[in-house]
Amino acid sequence: MPAIGLAWRPLNALKTRTQYGNLTGIRRSGDLRIDARRGLQAGETICVELRRWTLLRKTWKYLLPALRKIRPKDGLPAMGLLRTLGYIRQRRRDMAEELARQRSYCDLELELLAPHLTRPLQGSRALDIGCGQMLPMLIGLNAQGCEATGIDLDPYLPGQHSANFWRRRREGGLASAASAAVRNIAVDDQIGRRLAVELGYRKPLKSLDVRVMNVCALDFPDNTFDLMTSLAVFEHIEDMPGTLREIHRALKPGAPACLHAHLFASFTGGHNCDIMDTSGRHIGGEVDCWDHLRANRHTVPVYLNKLKLAEFRQLIEDSPLELAAWHAHPPSESDLKRLTPEIETELTAKGYTREDLLTTSLHMIVRKPQAG
Ligand SMILES: C[S@@+](CC[C@H](N)C(=O)[O-])C[C@H]1O[C@@H](n2cnc3c(N)ncnc32)[C@H](O)[C@@H]1O
Repeated sequence: MPAIGLAWRPLNALKTRTQYGNLTGIRRSGDLRIDARRGLQAGETICVELRRWTLLRKTWKYLLPALRKIRPKDGLPAMGLLRTLGYIRQRRRDMAEELARQRSYCDLELELLAPHLTRPLQGSRALDIGCGQMLPMLIGLNAQGCEATGIDLDPYLPGQHSANFWRRRREGGLASAASAAVRNIAVDDQIGRRLAVELGYRKPLKSLDVRVMNVCALDFPDNTFDLMTSLAVFEHIEDMPGTLREIHRALKPGAPACLHAHLFASFTGGHNCDIMDTSGRHIGGEVDCWDHLRANRHTVPVYLNKLKLAEFRQLIEDSPLELAAWHAHPPSESDLKRLTPEIETELTAKGYTREDLLTTSLHMIVRKPQAG
């Protein structure tokens, strides 16, 4: 049986398994041998997955020195670290579910964009706004043959662990950089690699074009992109008019953008990870639904612009972009049951409509006018 030798340099002795072929030998370093019965092609990406115990060991190896340097006034960041460890545990436990979720978001955005595209995805120049850490849309766009770039204020640059660490150390301090590094290695990278395999993106993640950039100051020439996507970003944007102007400038005439928001007035709109998964779906926990609009006992350290449905619509209408489609996704049966008459009365008195309270997810398809 033919065998393929791979140059594989782990940091130290790692046990590994691959998602392609069967592992026929494990070495401390150097070559990793897999059989080629499944027709592995030259240049095909091999996904090597670290075993759970190895990750744990590596995690502590990097985390402990960071924890030792935390001073009393760093109490809050230390809490942040603990939260991160809880988040990682949960995400790794629900890895398959998370993967399916990320894949379904990506499929949905592409499906909603499809009728508005001016050219086939293959070869299109695409921008994913707020590509984040798991990079689901960026991987999906590249898998479809787009020449895609992802931008984010705080992205995960695959394979550039020390650049990621030092940037965050500069911007947010040691504890925040350590938390992010652990999360990147233990969760984001793992999900990104699996997603790439599932979506058929055959290059290594580090070949993705990811840049640190603010969407309200895009460093691209006018009329660059054939399409833009964004997933769970528009509730975080501070300068909406400036952002819409920049999107208009960088899109080619007639080109569409799919802008998604996880709405603030929805029951998980406070972005508390103790009660929601990454799609804003309720996963139980002790925090009450709509806590952020009521007692507000559990604040989270992310910026939220608090825009309501009607305000998003008005901002688009006031911008140079055209609104091509509006998808305010209807609530599920279980979402409907959460809005008791008591909560509805209390929150409508604060100016939220029933639709505001029951709409978690909004996709806005905008387009640069042909003559724009
Ligand atoms: C909830 S995350 C979503 C990430 C990714 N789209 C995903 O679905 O996994 C929101 C992202 O938006 C980014 N973001 C917020 N404001 C931004 C801005 N003005 N410019 C670029 N990115 C921004 C944040 O850094 C964060 O990574």
